[in-house]
Amino acid sequence: MSTAATATPPTGIASIGLHLPPLSMPVTELAPLRGQDPMKYTHGLGCETMSLCPPDYGVVELATEAARRAIARWGGDTERIGMLAVGTETAVDMSRPLSAWVADRLGLKGAVRSYEVKHACYGGTLALRQAAEWRLSGAAQDQAALVVAADVALYEPGDPGEPTQGAGAVAMVIDEPRVASIDPVSYAWSEPEFDFWRPIGDSYPSVDGALSLDCYKRAAENCFKALVGKRNPEEVLSELAAICFHVPFPKMVRKAVDQIGEFFGFGAERIEQLYADKVSPTMVWNRLCGNAYTASLWISVANALEGLAVGQRVAAFSYGSGFGAELLMLESGTEASAGIWAKDIEADLTAREQLDGAAYTRLRAQDDGKTILAEEIGLDVATSRFGKASSR
Ligand code: COA
Repeated sequence: MSTAATATPPTGIASIGLHLPPLSMPVTELAPLRGQDPMKYTHGLGCETMSLCPPDYGVVELATEAARRAIARWGGDTERIGMLAVGTETAVDMSRPLSAWVADRLGLKGAVRSYEVKHACYGGTLALRQAAEWRLSGAAQDQAALVVAADVALYEPGDPGEPTQGAGAVAMVIDEPRVASIDPVSYAWSEPEFDFWRPIGDSYPSVDGALSLDCYKRAAENCFKALVGKRNPEEVLSELAAICFHVPFPKMVRKAVDQIGEFFGFGAERIEQLYADKVSPTMVWNRLCGNAYTASLWISVANALEGLAVGQRVAAFSYGSGFGAELLMLESGTEASAGIWAKDIEADLTAREQLDGAAYTRLRAQDDGKTILAEEIGLDVATSRFGKASSR
């Protein structure tokens, strides 16, 4: 056996690229369309704005652009990328992996393990864990991995989940831990449940909202319980600069924090302080893009890492319906303080066009088989660099 095969190179996130699609709509525009009080969406669910994709723009475009940005920022030779793992629940084919579309557009081929990972919103985290463990095992030798989490979260018009919709992608090159190292030890929890699922052939997910919330809270409690072990929970929490969660919608995260706090015996005031100090600030970008399924947690992590001094710890709680969860620990590296990836979000937020309720209704009409032109929903394809993109 080669000795090189057992070497364990320094491993972590070497670069991050983010991408949000070119359309958006405040949830307050949706409320009157559905006969709801806007306060239900903003205060009841904690939602603000949903990211939306124009016609002919989808998960392939999101994943590819995020990956391009991460690779450019990494600055390494793409010949060194030996793994491409794409986590998504917006599969474009039941057989061909989404990674093949991304690889095609990026020109990645050859000695690359390329595949798609599916486990609802947990798929991106699994892809990241596999990439990190591949390097830590020594099998990767000097190769790097490209991990992408990308999704378009759409519900049937009128579904209670509609205000939580969103879309986005996060790509990370797993190589030297310039942005953050990933602790090899993590805390997983899973139970087989039907809380959120999408049968083959169905365009939209089916959700048992109340069960999904229960599962999410139970998973969070068990993962944080395992993290704390026999230590004092306050001591463990004091070591964390930020605590990131998968964000289906911000109120769900708040309820999980309540459950974790109560489990540790905290009073209401302490829980409020914990949420305000370490959790809520990490969801600034999530509130502006809505649920992006696999990408949601990593959008929050990218936000939390931005501006951190070297050696600060961040907890990342991943949840995927079905259900599986895992709590990861990261430690900021030398490039976290510059947080250059924030420019991706700033650029996409500046470029995106805001729809009103009428334009949104026309956009969703394409779900009923009608062909909608980009111009019809107010997207200027002449000046948009996205207008002519296609998934196939
Ligand atoms: N002003 C302020 N708040 C209001 C309100 C108003 N006018 N009307 C309702 N609310 C609050 C409710 O009190 C409730 O808050 P609470 O839970 O803290 O009490 C919240 O708004 C939601 O109301 P609810 O009636 O529970 O909403 P719903 O039945 O329409 O459910 C979802 C909406 C989004 C919660 C549900 O469909 C869902 O869980 N969807 C998806 C979950 C998911 O993504 N799971 C998978 C991954 S984890």
